[in-house]
Amino acid sequence: MAYQTLIVEIEDNVALIRLNRPEALNALNSVLLGELADALKSADGNDKVRCVVITGSEKAFAAGADIKEMSSKTYVEMFGTNFFGTEPDSIGRTRKPIIAAVAGYALGGGCELAMMCDFIICADNAKFGQPEINLGIIAGIGGTQRLTRFVGKSKAMDMHLTGRFMDAAEAERSGLVSRVVPLAQLMPEAMAAAQKIAAKSQISVMAAKECVDRAYETTLNEGVLFERRLFHSMFATEDQKEGMAAFLEKREPQFRDK
Ligand code: HXC
Repeated sequence: MAYQTLIVEIEDNVALIRLNRPEALNALNSVLLGELADALKSADGNDKVRCVVITGSEKAFAAGADIKEMSSKTYVEMFGTNFFGTEPDSIGRTRKPIIAAVAGYALGGGCELAMMCDFIICADNAKFGQPEINLGIIAGIGGTQRLTRFVGKSKAMDMHLTGRFMDAAEAERSGLVSRVVPLAQLMPEAMAAAQKIAAKSQISVMAAKECVDRAYETTLNEGVLFERRLFHSMFATEDQKEGMAAFLEKREPQFRDK
């Protein structure tokens, strides 16, 4: 499907979704978020897709929600339309793994979008920030909650209250991103990670993703029990038999998502 604000390519079982509003540093407007929700839904339902990568340009992953679109809105319009209250949920509903490949600015809603993905790989020129405070507003797509879970209260408060940016090294040190690579290596690294995931059994990949996400939603004991039950359920799959047989026979497994 052709989108106005996204370029979507499917290659070797990976859907690469590129945010494409270069004139506004990929600022997230209603069209873009609607299209992203649609692209993720179709990736989730497409048997050829086993992992998703979301990226932007070398200059900006996304410089935030679109300030031009929001500037003249009233409270009644924002509340009445539940502004950006529904589209981002589609990211959370995606069962296949999503990697954010971030270069340049990931600010405001852009940082929030990256944090909604399953993990973030960034280029050495990445800059993360929640600068909404400079506009007389606050984060609105989960930034106060997710950044705090990623980097802890002190840094999250610092970022939200001062609006300062965090560079790639600090982002890695703080646990916001899983890897930092030179800019030229960003897409090869992200695509290689996606392909590595795509080669696993989808059943165990989706189960692992559900379990890690559960860590944010429940107590340790309940989370561990949830994990153990899903772990036990893996033994109902053919892929468990294949994975363990392949190890014992010293060969590569041929997973069939069964
Ligand atoms: C709309 C934006 C934009 C944004 C950049 N642009 N960010 N348009 N919304 N968030 C546009 C600029 O207006 C400009 O268009 C073009 O992109 C290039 O930007 P410049 O500012 O000229 O580039 P540069 O000098 O390199 O500065 C880059 C920047 C700066 C530091 C990223 O653009 C910036 O501070 N942007 C805003 C960041 C921000 O505050 N984000 C939070 C938004 S609020 P023209 O037409 O002038 O050339 C938010 C709330 C989320 O995200 C919750 C919602 C529910």
